[in-house]
Amino acid sequence: MSLRLGDTAPNFKAVTTLGEIDFYNYLGDKWGVLLSHPGDFTPVCTTEIGRTAQLSEEFKKRNTKVLVVSVDSLEDHNGWVKDINEVANTVVDFPLIADKSRAVSELYDMIHPNASATATVRSVFIIGPDKKIKLVLTYPAAIGRNFQEIIRALDALQLSSEFGISTPVDWKKGEEVIVANSLSDTEAKKKFPKGVRVVKSYLRYTPQPDFE
Ligand code: BEZ
Repeated sequence: MSLRLGDTAPNFKAVTTLGEIDFYNYLGDKWGVLLSHPGDFTPVCTTEIGRTAQLSEEFKKRNTKVLVVSVDSLEDHNGWVKDINEVANTVVDFPLIADKSRAVSELYDMIHPNASATATVRSVFIIGPDKKIKLVLTYPAAIGRNFQEIIRALDALQLSSEFGISTPVDWKKGEEVIVANSLSDTEAKKKFPKGVRVVKSYLRYTPQPDFE
């Protein structure tokens, strides 16, 4: 059965390019982004993992650890990482899981047999410090993911978690956010001293609380 939002992200042990890891120990109390890709030495995947490495500081700023998984061998991963570093002019500093046995891929339902019987699709799981699954994305092999969107969603999830707000369509960091309807106008004004802009009784905005 596939994993759904709010489910506990299952723990696992795995062999990776940074040694053997226990997933929960690796994450510690941080947020996690677990990415699968269809295969090593393939073009779209090379650009994706290169971009992830280029965004490494952005993930760190967000208290977030990244892991990548495919059903390739450790030997292949190690060879491919050299290519990625060269092509993207970067340093891959997060672990690539060598999931030859498919244990992790199957645990997270990353192999969709009607897309490919053998390779993982492009899955994204964002996992909170409470180890609950906060966001799931699934892309087919031919379509590279948008890592700016993954960072944007991470920002929105972290804001929502800290301040109980929601984010409107196409929200970007620094823009207004939406006040929860569970708050009365008086409670909202108290909680959000920067102000509350009422469009409808059920649609109230406030400036992003932690944005200077
Ligand atoms: C790619 O990364 O380019 C790719 C991998 C597997 C199937 C199709 C494309």
